[in-house]
Amino acid sequence: MQKLVIAIDGYSSCGKSTTAKAVAAALGYAYIDTGAMYRAVTLYLLENKIAFDDLPRIEQALHDMHITFKRNRRTGRNELCLDGQVREDEIRQMYISNNVSEVSVIPAVRHAMVRQQQRMGRKRGIVMDGRDIGTTVFPDAEVKVFMTADTHTRALRRQEELAEKGEQVELEAIIENLTKRDYIDSTRAESPLRRAADAVLLDTTHITIDEQVDFVLERVSAALFSR
Ligand code: DC
Repeated sequence: MQKLVIAIDGYSSCGKSTTAKAVAAALGYAYIDTGAMYRAVTLYLLENKIAFDDLPRIEQALHDMHITFKRNRRTGRNELCLDGQVREDEIRQMYISNNVSEVSVIPAVRHAMVRQQQRMGRKRGIVMDGRDIGTTVFPDAEVKVFMTADTHTRALRRQEELAEKGEQVELEAIIENLTKRDYIDSTRAESPLRRAADAVLLDTTHITIDEQVDFVLERVSAALFSR
């Protein structure tokens, strides 16, 4: 059967990655969390004390760093590796969330990530989630979904996720972070967060993960059988 590209874009903490992972598992497709890649660049710049406006050092850093994904055999999870080391826990911490949007506006960073993402998906049979997959990375994706949910619901989900990892964060701080990131992500000049004209909207405020997954899988069936 023909292999598709499934692009899942939308706001932070709408359940994009949970949905994308389940869809990939159901179809036997690869899954790429592109937000993890921007988080890894942020971690690298912070650890190497590279200022976000020091373009020559950023370009050198993009050349030097190696971002890959490795499957954890025990959990089955795809884990982000920076220079061969699993850094999944660090990239999810609040100090990365508080800096990642600023790093994601840098055109050199976006170009490098988009190029790598296009390479990763060139054989198709992939589910990719992010902010610009349906608009910039794979404008020819056969299935495009744009996810949204109200801010309070998203913040509660994020708080739960962080608590599961042992990080207790006030709801107000999370709401502030999500609002700020949404603003920066949607107003940046280079591939801003926006719904592609041919993406279907999925509001996850009042629906379960299973319903989100079914919604995307129905779109996949429609795309496969309309050919
Ligand atoms: O999906 P996430 O919250 O882990 O993403 C972290 C940040 O990365 C997000 O605030 C914006 C940026 N991002 C991006 O600019 N483009 C993407 N395709 C994915 C993420």
